[in-house]
Amino acid sequence: MPQDLQQVNAPLIGVPGGRHLLDTPALLIDLPAMARNIERMAAFAKARGINLRPHVKTHKSVEIARRQVAAGAIGVSCVTMGEAEVMVQGGIPGVLITSPAVTPSKIARLIKLAQRARPGDVMVVVDNPQNVAELARAASQLTHPLDVLVDYGAGYNRTGAATQAKVLELAALVAAEPRLRLRGLQSYAGNLQHIVARDERRAAAAGLRETVAGIVAAARRQGLNFDIVTGAGTGTHDLDTQENAFTELQAGSYVFMDAEYTNVLASGGQPSPFEVSLFVQTAVVSTNAADWVTVDGGTKCFSTDSGVPLVAKGADTASRYAFFGDEHGKLMPVQGSRPALGARVEFVTPHCDPTVNLHDAYHVVEGGTLVAIWPVDARGKR
Ligand SMILES: Cc1ncc(COP(=O)(O)O)c(C=O)c1O
Repeated sequence: MPQDLQQVNAPLIGVPGGRHLLDTPALLIDLPAMARNIERMAAFAKARGINLRPHVKTHKSVEIARRQVAAGAIGVSCVTMGEAEVMVQGGIPGVLITSPAVTPSKIARLIKLAQRARPGDVMVVVDNPQNVAELARAASQLTHPLDVLVDYGAGYNRTGAATQAKVLELAALVAAEPRLRLRGLQSYAGNLQHIVARDERRAAAAGLRETVAGIVAAARRQGLNFDIVTGAGTGTHDLDTQENAFTELQAGSYVFMDAEYTNVLASGGQPSPFEVSLFVQTAVVSTNAADWVTVDGGTKCFSTDSGVPLVAKGADTASRYAFFGDEHGKLMPVQGSRPALGARVEFVTPHCDPTVNLHDAYHVVEGGTLVAIWPVDARGKR
């Protein structure tokens, strides 16, 4: 009978030293580190008087969303309809869908979801007049108006209206539709989040905030309701609390961190305020080569878009990893002893979000003990 990794590992919950007996490759959460990240971001937002609506694209987990809300988040941001469905089903309030719902099937799912949730607990962004008209038509099936934010492209233009004039035009269209309720503006600049040089990141984020403040002021002069101004990722979370341009932060990766973001947030000589709490544990499955050992984690286990995993535990941290196919990695010790056959080696992931989506479950550890296994609830949910 085929067995899931989580079924195999479940008997280890609570067993002293169980972390080192896991069947691999296993996605790990260091629970105390994650709890500190959640608390730190919540305390930071509270101290700056800004709301937090963390993006669940990072973790896709109802349990983690619950912990973020319990720490003070006003809701969550989702990018796929599937993530939003999972969060509403899990009882998470304040769900904002940060990408437009355009096709008939997505609009139908959105309407069903909005009907199921309390009024205001499902919001969606728009960036096109045709989409506004289609949403308004579909929202006639709802017993309450559909909550809508206008998406601004923020110079990044992955989604979003490209100019202030287009944003205002869309906002006026939404406001004129009785079945829609205009709630505000989204401005997410994904291109700024990973700028490594802090001065450069600071200047770019300041420029965007000035533009956003101008758009919001113009909208308010026209009597358009922009109560919510949402944006910012982990890379600009501290910058985007300035000047009250935004009313809320959508940061996601801070909860786990990864190799890339640790490098970004540690730039400018300050340590990253968030700790790495997500790891992948692998086992050494072959030791016959002279210059490396082979571990059981490859491209089906780590995302490949942001460099290579970094050794965290179980081998010299100076050892280098190289992808060695779908299921394997090449671990090249620089000095000292080589990990033995069957030894566990844990890695910091290159990029947390897409790595999580490669796994079914989180193995939640405290020190050497496995304390829980949580599903990656919205894994693969489109
Ligand atoms: C629209 C939107 N908001 C927020 C985030 C979260 O950003 P980060 O993971 O950098 O904190 C993302 C990430 O891609 C995003 O696409």
